[in-house]
Amino acid sequence: MPRVSAGISTGFFARYASALPQDMKYDFDTVIPRRGQGNIKYDRRPELDPFWVADMDFASAPEIQEALIARVKHPIYGYAQAHQGLIDATLQYLQDRHQVVVSADHIVWLGGLVPALSLAVKAFCQPGEAVMTCTPSYPPFLNVHHDARAVELISIPHVQQQGRWTFDFEAMEKFITPQTKLFLLSNPQNPLGRVFSYDELLQLAQFCQRHDLVLVSDEIHCDLIFDETQTPHICGHRLPAEYHDRIITLLSPSKTYNIAGIGIAYAVITHDSLKRRFTAARGHTQSEINTFGYYAAEAAYRSGEPWRQQLLAYLAENQRVMHAYLSAHAPQIVLNWNEGTYLSWMDCRALGWENPATHWEKASGLFLSDGAFFGVPQHVRFNFGCPRARMMEGLEKLVKGIA
Ligand SMILES: Cc1ncc(COP(=O)(O)O)c(C=O)c1O
Repeated sequence: MPRVSAGISTGFFARYASALPQDMKYDFDTVIPRRGQGNIKYDRRPELDPFWVADMDFASAPEIQEALIARVKHPIYGYAQAHQGLIDATLQYLQDRHQVVVSADHIVWLGGLVPALSLAVKAFCQPGEAVMTCTPSYPPFLNVHHDARAVELISIPHVQQQGRWTFDFEAMEKFITPQTKLFLLSNPQNPLGRVFSYDELLQLAQFCQRHDLVLVSDEIHCDLIFDETQTPHICGHRLPAEYHDRIITLLSPSKTYNIAGIGIAYAVITHDSLKRRFTAARGHTQSEINTFGYYAAEAAYRSGEPWRQQLLAYLAENQRVMHAYLSAHAPQIVLNWNEGTYLSWMDCRALGWENPATHWEKASGLFLSDGAFFGVPQHVRFNFGCPRARMMEGLEKLVKGIA
C-alpha cells in the first residue's frame, strides 16, 4: 500500500497528500504533557502517576494527524459512513497483513470493541445461559455478561506450559455447561501478552464447535507483536472456513496507533445469519460512528506502517530495559515476557501484600491496573507504552515502593 495519504478518499480529500519524507524517523522519546486535557489516563486520578489504562503516551502517527487535520478543514461534520477509501484500505490490510480475504459486506463498523463484546452477549445469550472466558482477562470480558439479563460467566484460569501461558482445555471441558453459548477470546492476550499459535486457536475453535459456542475473537492488539515471524498473529478468520459460521473477529487500529479516543472499530463476520443476529442486537443503542474515526482508520491502514515498525522496535526495547531493571532491583516481582502488547503483567505474590496496586498508590503515588479487576488479585498490570524516560520514572517508583 502506498504510504502517501493521497489515496485518502475522493473529491475534496483527493487533493491532500502527505508531505512527510518516506524515510521519516519518528519521535517516541519526547514526553508530551497530557494532564488536564480531559483524558482518562491522567485526569481520572490527577494526584497519581499513571501507568494503568491501555493508552500510550506517544503522539499518534503524523500521517494520521495529517488526515484528521485535512478532515477538520472540511467544515461540515454531518453523519458519516465508511467511505470507499477506508473500505479499500481495510480489505487490503486484512489481506496483506492477516491473509484474510473478505468483502465489504463482511465488515460491521463499530464505535469500539467493548460495545461489540456486549452486543455479542446480547445477540447470542438468553437469560439463564452463560459466557466462557479465561483469566486473567481484560476487565470488560468479566463484566459484559451483566449487560444481558441473567447471563452467567464461567471464567477459567489460563495455565503455563513450558513457560508460556495457554488455555486449560481440560478445565474448560470440565466446567462448560450446556447453557454456555459464547466464548470471549483476547488474542494477543491482554494482560498476558501471549500471541496464540495456530494450533492453540484451532483447538479452541474445535472446542467451540463441539459445544456449539460462538467464538468472539478480540484482536485489538494484533498489530502490536514484537516478532511477527516467530509469533505471527492468527486472525480468527484465518482458521479453516468450516469454523467461520461461529467466528466474530473484532479489530481496530485504535491501540496500535494510539487513537482509542477517536472511537473506531469493526467486526469481521462472514456468515450471514451470524452477522444478522449480531447486527440485530444493536437495536437503536449505537450512535453513528464519527467521521474522524473513519478517516483516522484509513490513514492508519494506508500510511501507518513505517510508524508502526518503529513503534514496535521502541516498545521491544522498553520491554528489554524494564526486565533488566526490575530483575536487578525488584527480583520479587515475577514478570511475563510479552510476545505482544505494551502491557506487562506482574506477579507480586512474593511481596506478600494483599493489594499491590493500593500499596504502590499509597507508597509511591503510582496508578497501576489492579490484577483483581482482571480476575487475579496480587498482580498488577504496568503500561510500558511510553517514552523510556517516563517508563524509568515509573519503574523507579515501583522499586522505591518496595523498599
Ligand atoms: C482486549 C481489549 N479489548 C478491547 C479494548 C477496548 O476497546 P474499545 O476502546 O474499542 O472499546 C481494550 C482496551 O484496552 C482491550 O485491551
